[in-house]
Amino acid sequence: MNPRKIIIDTDPGQDDAVAILLALASPELEVVGITAVAGNVPLPLTEKNARIVCELAGRTDIRVFAGAEKPLARPLVTAEHVHGKTGLDGPVLADPTMTLAASHAVDFIVETLRQHPEGEVTLVPIGPLTNVAMALQKAPDIIGRVAEIVLMGGAYFEVGNITPAAEFNIFVDPEAAAIVFRSGIPLTVMSLDVTHKALTTRARVDAFRGMGTETGRMVAAWTDFFERFDKEKYGSEGAPLHDPCTIAYLLRPELFTGRRINVEIETGSELTRGMTVADWWRVTDRSPNAMFMGTIDDDGFFDLLTTRLAVLP
Ligand code: BDR
Ligand code: CA
Repeated sequence: MNPRKIIIDTDPGQDDAVAILLALASPELEVVGITAVAGNVPLPLTEKNARIVCELAGRTDIRVFAGAEKPLARPLVTAEHVHGKTGLDGPVLADPTMTLAASHAVDFIVETLRQHPEGEVTLVPIGPLTNVAMALQKAPDIIGRVAEIVLMGGAYFEVGNITPAAEFNIFVDPEAAAIVFRSGIPLTVMSLDVTHKALTTRARVDAFRGMGTETGRMVAAWTDFFERFDKEKYGSEGAPLHDPCTIAYLLRPELFTGRRINVEIETGSELTRGMTVADWWRVTDRSPNAMFMGTIDDDGFFDLLTTRLAVLP
């Protein structure tokens, strides 16, 4: 079977880095490009970090594009308090030698979708949705061409992580999220309700380190770094590995369960800005626009991660 073509739109971020590595380690997926967006840290760092991760995987052939420097309508909010000053704090990292692709990320998304047959390219946004929304606004003809969007963002039962009401990726650019959620493109949403069930443990991090590879050491060091924040905040044993859940879903959808429901994005209220108003209990007659995921087989997820990452350098 031909590999499934994906574009990863990302703001690395240690968990973004693990998602990219999982995709690059998986023959079922062809990463046609990586588009960077401002989010966890500013754009010059996210695009650089994406190149660092490709180099770590030995994949200097992957094209990395820089996209939006800030959300559609608001100043950028970043998350150095979680990811550190560089976005990939933890291990010592050398600057990448790979260069950045010349085109803008939004143009790359538009052109790639136009060049491929309808329904062939899947978008995997794991940061704020600015680049994706800009592409849909700039070229509405691509809407019917996207196979599916599998994104990390939002929450219902877990409500929020950056504010009491909102998850970080949606909070940073709620206007972009509203465009994506209303686009009519099939959406699969890996919410905090899922990712907060995919926690690292000592044994799971040791399994990364125990691979004896550079990738294993890096992933363990990244995990050690960002764990400290969530452990303090939630009092949990480990930290959620949010973004790799999207890639794991593409590889092993049976690890997840969810509901097809309506999800609207709050853009008006400052108090609940970026809230994903998810009609989990189907109490409205609003049409379903998303497959909103709620559970994960966490052992299966970590098995998949360790098995796949082990093939990388
Ligand atoms: C999301 O926010 C970022 O900090 C992570 O990389 C993830 O994409 C989790 O809320
Ligand atoms: Ca991210």
